[in-house]
Amino acid sequence: MCGIVGVTGTNKTVSILIDGLKRLEYRGYDSAGIYVNDQAGKDFLIKRAGRITNLEAALTPEVQGMAGIGHTRWATHGEPNQANAHPQYSADKRFYLVHNGVIENYKDLKEEYLSDVKFKSQTDTEVIVQLVDKFVTAYDMDTKAALLKVLRLISRDSSYAFALMDKEQPDTLYVAKNKSPLLVGIGKGYNMVGSDALSMLNETNEFMEIEDHELVIVQPDHVTIESFDNEEKHRDTFTVDMDPNAADKGAYPFYMLKEIDEQPAVMRRLVQEYLGANGKPQIDEKLLAQMQEADHLYIVGAGTSYHAGLVGARLFERFAQIPTSVHISSEFAYEQPLLSKKPFFIFLSQSGETADSREVLVHVNENKWPSLTITNVDKSTLSREATHTLLLYAGPEIAVASTKAYTAQVAVEAILAKALGEYLGLEAAQKFDVKDELAKVANGMQALVDSKDEIEAIASHALSKPRNAFYIGRGLDWSVSLEAALKLKEISYVQAEGFASGELKHGTIALIEKNTPVIGIITQSRTAGLTRSNLEETAARGANILTIASRHLAKEDDSIILPDVDEMISPLLSVVPAQLLAYYTSLGKGLDVDKPRNLAKSVTVQ
Ligand code: G6P
Repeated sequence: MCGIVGVTGTNKTVSILIDGLKRLEYRGYDSAGIYVNDQAGKDFLIKRAGRITNLEAALTPEVQGMAGIGHTRWATHGEPNQANAHPQYSADKRFYLVHNGVIENYKDLKEEYLSDVKFKSQTDTEVIVQLVDKFVTAYDMDTKAALLKVLRLISRDSSYAFALMDKEQPDTLYVAKNKSPLLVGIGKGYNMVGSDALSMLNETNEFMEIEDHELVIVQPDHVTIESFDNEEKHRDTFTVDMDPNAADKGAYPFYMLKEIDEQPAVMRRLVQEYLGANGKPQIDEKLLAQMQEADHLYIVGAGTSYHAGLVGARLFERFAQIPTSVHISSEFAYEQPLLSKKPFFIFLSQSGETADSREVLVHVNENKWPSLTITNVDKSTLSREATHTLLLYAGPEIAVASTKAYTAQVAVEAILAKALGEYLGLEAAQKFDVKDELAKVANGMQALVDSKDEIEAIASHALSKPRNAFYIGRGLDWSVSLEAALKLKEISYVQAEGFASGELKHGTIALIEKNTPVIGIITQSRTAGLTRSNLEETAARGANILTIASRHLAKEDDSIILPDVDEMISPLLSVVPAQLLAYYTSLGKGLDVDKPRNLAKSVTVQ
């Protein structure tokens, strides 16, 4: 949540900041701001409530500089207005700070050190910048020493990614992080910082990691990394092999539609990356060896990734026969269940940065338990800190509502379950032709995205007016119901729930009124008849029932028919119409599909 950029050493500063912020807008979009300094005596602070376009519109031609910092915000402290937007600055207008995260002890710091200072905002960030100023002016410290003192005073449970500028050293960015993501970008003659690699990819593909509790000083031709004890550290750079245009919308009205459409290609890419010519999974043997020693797999994730984990658990149990449970990271992190003797952890995270998931991983590492992160972002925090990583190869996902990352996560889980089962010599895994099945999935997805018009018609007919809606199913169809309902509620604001269809009668059926949409997902032979009966029960109470059914289980009146694939990976297809139904419902209501209210794509606060 919140995106940060900074650059020093170029007269393109303003355009680099704005371009970077636009690429980070997925991290928060309720207000934005920049501070730039021309190093010849002029500086500018421009902030606006609302989207980056509002900020851009406020820039006049004279706003130019040789260094600057920028921020796009997802409010945690104080409403999203101009005063609370970042950069926050000190009372004497010497220091400017952008921040992503939450300072848990900001009230204590304010009380103890800043009772004489008049505050302009309600943010925790302003406390930090005022405190740096206080230590510099009142205690006669230099900026570095003052910042270090502040960093030491910030409580350990706080999270931050900071970029600080001092008007008296206008070519220097002071940078530090704890828990929140931040990278240095190495340019030619100038250097940058950003919350992710994509925000800097137009300028460079060479990056440097920053670890928690380091102070990094970024200058045009030099980057210094030190521990809080002034010990200088050497850090190698790494390159990211990604086309910056991969994050462009092209001719699509919204990223979400582009990302839904990309799913067949993502499936084919995963086949290429992970399955050899003979269909044998190419998975690191060390990973398989560690997994086979486990007596229980724990899958941890949030939001859509948690839902992908629900499907994965069934795959691991079926093909590798290892008991598997799935946990919401924000629950697991603070209320840990009793664990088995030999646990193995699988972290699912599109971004690789979700704060609650990271909290669990820190604990896992403290206990030296082995782990795997399945993520879309190479070198992300969860990827760097887990024992193993498998990448999703889905390309940048920009829309807040996750689509292609979900299907990529399920596909990677299917490949891994097959690989592990084969490694263990299990027959079910040997019989599961994952390469052939994923090829069928890719074709099936293509057929579904090609029939958008029909799905749009269903959305406008059935979902545009009702206040609430239900997705129901059993087993894997229930897992998909949860994801389908999440898609609908997050972007169209229809109050949608996913239910185990057998549970409806135990309470929820009381909510069914005339024309309440109830969408049944039917892809599992064992439970298809039961789910159909449950749908009928709701129809008898006035529900408007719709069905998404696999061809081999389909009936004449079904609303959407899915091409047949192995039932174990049917979620890869049944989720696609649900994604499209949510998209068209949101579109029909004239909402901003990619940036739904109150949400952000990367949740880096707990
Ligand atoms: C946010 C996003 C969701 C995502 C969740 C977990 O809520 O809007 O799309 O599923 O975070 O994110 P992760 O990056 O860990 O998968």
